[in-house]
Amino acid sequence: MTRPRVVLGVAGGIAAYKAVELLRQLTETGHDVTVVPTRAALAFVGAPTWAALSGKPVADDVWTDVHEVPHVRLGQAADLVVVAPATADLLAKAAHGLADDLLGNVLLTARCPVVMAPAMHTEMWEHPATRANVALLRARGVLVVEPAVGRLTGADSGKGRLPDPVELAALCRQVLAGTPQDLVGRRVVVSAGGTREHLDPVRFLGNRSSGKQGYALARAAAARGAEVVLVSTATLPDPAGVTVRRVVSALELRDAVLAEAKEADVVVMAAAVADYRPVERLTTKRKKTSSMTVELVQNPDVLAELVALRARDQTAARRPGQVLVGFAAETGDADAGVLGHGRAKLARKGCDLLVVNEVGETGHPTGFEGDQNAATVLAADGSSVDVPLGSKDALAAVVLDLVAARLPLA
Ligand code: CTP
Repeated sequence: MTRPRVVLGVAGGIAAYKAVELLRQLTETGHDVTVVPTRAALAFVGAPTWAALSGKPVADDVWTDVHEVPHVRLGQAADLVVVAPATADLLAKAAHGLADDLLGNVLLTARCPVVMAPAMHTEMWEHPATRANVALLRARGVLVVEPAVGRLTGADSGKGRLPDPVELAALCRQVLAGTPQDLVGRRVVVSAGGTREHLDPVRFLGNRSSGKQGYALARAAAARGAEVVLVSTATLPDPAGVTVRRVVSALELRDAVLAEAKEADVVVMAAAVADYRPVERLTTKRKKTSSMTVELVQNPDVLAELVALRARDQTAARRPGQVLVGFAAETGDADAGVLGHGRAKLARKGCDLLVVNEVGETGHPTGFEGDQNAATVLAADGSSVDVPLGSKDALAAVVLDLVAARLPLA
């Protein structure tokens, strides 16, 4: 089997050192990677590093190995071009088709998917010139990944960090696998993980949800071009291009999801939201007594609220045709089987899709904690899709296919 051919373009920013890890991730997962740095990138990380890790010669100009016509051959033969980091200067050049170095030529000759992961100071990212260049590149089909928020060079922090290289590599693999760009211009909100309802500063009521399925959904939506907000209780690495809002309790999750949902085209409630919270949260540690009674009060049902708000609020502020997706982890009982409970829940909640999966004790192959899942996706129109045991990424892809088919035309 031929290895997928990737051109890794590296522009001249301090985050070039992180592209070394991206290169390793890609080569170790069987990709044939040619690194094309800009002249400025070589000031940060030298050609020997790129050559040693890619196993290929490295050039930044069009005058090396001219007989092999690298300025057109590399782009033509690539299955994916990923530029990481993409500086403000690189984005400007790419938007205007400048080709005064090898990377510029590659970008003009490539007919494969192109991913750009910008990294720069917040002011540069927010400058109208950069905004216009990014909009132009996106309109031409380039997947421009939103930078992460956090520590920047020097003492500054803000939006502009290169996403985690492991997550960037995962995004590249999804694009190489042929993930459609059908969520460009859409805003997707995903909730993930189990909420924690605190009894006192050290103890909480929780559940076994790891958040992995929600993260897989957020990752897949970003790879399909969506603007993604992940409201999460988990501490997994932030998926590339996804804005993560961390929350702890059901009430915090509710506030974050309802605020983000106002302008969302899609809301996927993959979080395991606690149905109850303690009436009282002690501010000091509860001392041991011979027995203990905890009074619980019901939490709001976020998904039901989203359905009610969608029905009530048809103003321009709320996107028309919002698609709402719920999850239901069921065990089945004396009253009904897993799917019976699922259908009743879909009708009760009023969402468009309900992803129903069977869960059990530790060691059960689907659902909580593991990397695999199997589910039946029930739709409000009565149809259903069975997703056999496979990766959580595979289930995420099916869910997003069904979501995309239900979105109103852009
Ligand atoms: N959910 C929610 N708010 C809650 C509880 C659940 O938004 N307070 C959402 C979950 O994120 C999930 C869906 O509702 O998408 C179904 O969750 P589940 O706990 O199965 O539903 P419940 O209505 O609590 O039903 P059950 O009686 O089976 O616990």
